[in-house]
Amino acid sequence: MDTKAELRGFNGDSSTKGSMYLEEMTNKSEVFSCIFSLKEEVGALAKALRLFEEKGINLTHIESRPSRLNKNQYEFFVSVDMASSETLDHIVSGLRAQISGHVHELSRNKAKDTVPWFPNYIQDLDRFANQILSYGAELDSDHPGFTDPVYRARRKEFADIAYNYRHGQPIPKVEYTEEEKQTWGTVFKELKTLYPTHACREHNRVFPLLEQYCGYREDNIPQLEDISRFLQSCTGFRLRPVAGLLSSRDFLAGLAFRVFHSTQYIRHSSRPMYTPEPDICHELLGHVPLFADPSFAQFSQEIGLASLGAPDEYIQKLATVYWFTVEFGLCKQESEIKAYGAGLLSSFGELQYSLTDKPKLLPFDPEKTSLQAYPITEFQPVYFVSESFEDAKEKVRKFAATIPRPFSVRYNPYTQSIEVLDSMQQLKNLADSIGGEMGILCNALQKMGMEKHENKL
Ligand SMILES: [Fe+2]
Repeated sequence: MDTKAELRGFNGDSSTKGSMYLEEMTNKSEVFSCIFSLKEEVGALAKALRLFEEKGINLTHIESRPSRLNKNQYEFFVSVDMASSETLDHIVSGLRAQISGHVHELSRNKAKDTVPWFPNYIQDLDRFANQILSYGAELDSDHPGFTDPVYRARRKEFADIAYNYRHGQPIPKVEYTEEEKQTWGTVFKELKTLYPTHACREHNRVFPLLEQYCGYREDNIPQLEDISRFLQSCTGFRLRPVAGLLSSRDFLAGLAFRVFHSTQYIRHSSRPMYTPEPDICHELLGHVPLFADPSFAQFSQEIGLASLGAPDEYIQKLATVYWFTVEFGLCKQESEIKAYGAGLLSSFGELQYSLTDKPKLLPFDPEKTSLQAYPITEFQPVYFVSESFEDAKEKVRKFAATIPRPFSVRYNPYTQSIEVLDSMQQLKNLADSIGGEMGILCNALQKMGMEKHENKL
């Protein structure tokens, strides 16, 4: 799957993008926390808390500590959930009027009302999987299979498989026809000749493993289920069949869970070296090898995490970043430039063209890359070159930090869910988790004698 076709249908209207706004979020009130200080006197805290009580506000958290500024005062940190803006204004002004110490508002989650819905659990991907922009059997009049009723019927079979798919089920295996296998064989054979010289080292490292474990052969179209299991064992990435074109928002959200929405059908046999849309050749030869690489998997997930709850304009920017990296990215390896984008690795013509001196090469910089215009029906005039996947990942992280949303998110692989980091408890959980990881790291360093080595230095 790629965003090329998705962007064709991206018109900024949420009713057609497949995204939605959760009802429970639309009227949700504000989350609020503040610190205030009180003189050490009987009843002072009760008086302050009465302001919350009078408005029927429950405190979700309260802590106290001696004030560092004034020895005769105590500071109180309080958090509340679900209060209206007017109520919070009333409480803050009440605190300021009643108490002698300071009142410092730490956070007020004002934008939460308008945060677009996003999946919290991996099962939530079922909710938008069928909110597609066009069904797989609907072909444009210039599609090579437009006048072929057999091909159109076949496309509907594939679309139906994906339409009925739910998370956790094995992806149904498909018996491909001889004609379909021949088309695959032609593409497979031609592209394989270019990979040693044009593909990045990660692609070339994984490709033989796919031949060994997933049935990548000239005379066999590999099954999505086998590949999905292989990817899960490498990086936790998994495939999910998709019935048609997803919106950019929904497609990118899948990446946050390390889920890649993949087509299962193959291009029309009349033009084996051309497809106007992503097909199984594009997914399996272009995308899959890279998703087996840990750094690239992390990079892809970063784009997905950045998209959750992002405003529409930033979804468009992230889709453009995705376009110039996951689809058409080039990277430096030793003294050479190699291809890692799936749109290149699945196109015999553009893979060769991209490494000539014809296109313009620019350094990957999400701020600038996200604004770059591009054609979708011809070779790209501009490519962006990443220093490495690690470097690209860090740059996307920094870019993600500029996206206006009132929280940070983190993926919890144990529960396969998104943790929204907008409360002290969430931050404490994260700190505990990091503390545990640091303990493991220190222990491993000690056992490897690195500390000793460093002391000598
Ligand atoms: Fe793609």
